[in-house]
Amino acid sequence: MSSQNTPSSSGTNLDPWYNNYAERAAGLSVSEVRALFAVASRPEVVSLAGGMPYVSALPRELVIDAMNRVMVEQGPVALQYGSGQGVPKLREHILEVMALEGIRGSVDDVVVTTGSQQALDLITKLFINPGDVILAEAPSYVGAIGVFRSYQADIEHVLMDDDGLIPDALREAIARVRASGRTIKFLYTIPNFHNPAGVTLSASRREEVLQICRSEGILVLEDNPYGLLYFDGPPPQSLRSTEDEGVIYLGSFSKTLAPGFRIGWAIAPHAIREKLVLAAESAILCPSSFSQLVISEYLETADWKGQINTFRGVYEERKNTMLSALTEYLPELSWTNPNGGFYVWLTLPDYLDTKQMLPRAVKELVAYTPGTAFYADGGGRNKIRLSYCYPTPDQIKLGIRRLTTVINGEIDLLETFHATGPLATIRTSPSFSAPPPDMD
Ligand SMILES: Cc1ncc(COP(=O)(O)O)c(C=O)c1O
Repeated sequence: MSSQNTPSSSGTNLDPWYNNYAERAAGLSVSEVRALFAVASRPEVVSLAGGMPYVSALPRELVIDAMNRVMVEQGPVALQYGSGQGVPKLREHILEVMALEGIRGSVDDVVVTTGSQQALDLITKLFINPGDVILAEAPSYVGAIGVFRSYQADIEHVLMDDDGLIPDALREAIARVRASGRTIKFLYTIPNFHNPAGVTLSASRREEVLQICRSEGILVLEDNPYGLLYFDGPPPQSLRSTEDEGVIYLGSFSKTLAPGFRIGWAIAPHAIREKLVLAAESAILCPSSFSQLVISEYLETADWKGQINTFRGVYEERKNTMLSALTEYLPELSWTNPNGGFYVWLTLPDYLDTKQMLPRAVKELVAYTPGTAFYADGGGRNKIRLSYCYPTPDQIKLGIRRLTTVINGEIDLLETFHATGPLATIRTSPSFSAPPPDMD
């Protein structure tokens, strides 16, 4: 072996190549809660943690039919490499899907990716030098934070409330970052049924956010995997539908169809789109031809709008169940009321630490995602993301009852160590003084 290929002498026992990694590899940190989630995936645990769509509600026969037809009629194409930008037929279908949200474009504008996660990765790779700033809501999607960190971006959070990103907070963040001499590369935002906060950016704020970004010369990265999964009515028009040049838009079939296909897309201003295709080709050559053709065939032959409607019904029922259970058992707490998507954002008293509490929750057979996962700056200690997308309504009720037991136990524990003080004031409701018995 040549000396260039031997591990550097100062490696560690665990990894002799430790000192050979590029600096950016330090941004790839293991989720602190991953080990717990391995335990949490046991069947007896009610998981309110993941964001897995309820794919059992899909018409499986129709998916199988689409797969069969693709293999019978286009087998050699489906099994072959394809265009780096994606199959043209699917890109036409993507235009139809986006038209439901008021987005117009041409087939040439669309780049098919391996899930929108890959689009996030490619765009970050194209724009970010180490130390560049990405503005992102507080909180933000954990998977985006991971990507941004892996390219050594500085993530600067922008406050939200029940109407989404706060325009004044955006102005302040821009001024603060620029005063520190750093460069802002883009604003990353999830305007609809936010992951994890569950809120939606209001129509008037959409205008204002676009106006700010336009006048400050800041590119917007609009991530919209949940927009079609609304309950009472559709969300306001997407940012991309009013602004072509300053917005990159990301869509996905993961939540409206199935994540197993790993197909998402980006629609970007012309010059960015060219670079994006080059970056995609260099990363993966092309997205899966098979997946693209199956989705295309499915969209051509199945009642996909009806099927999205079915998903809406399933998720709305689950959300209602979760909010009723929270109202019944944890009325002192506050939470968001999403009008679509998968997530409720729960706020606990500020002296509770939800990451520390998680092992006790898993012991009580309920799992959630602690708030700190969604902040790049250690925020969210007393927050919890609850997902209602995957568990059945009965499991959701059971999960919230177990969570109540855990929160009560945590408060009891803290009260034991702080016999007097503000902690006592929260325990006013029967649900806190007498936790419900577990159902099993
Ligand atoms: C906001 C957001 N963006 C992107 C993704 C990635 O989705 P996919 O790569 O499956 O399209 C997710 C998945 O949960 C998400 O919630």
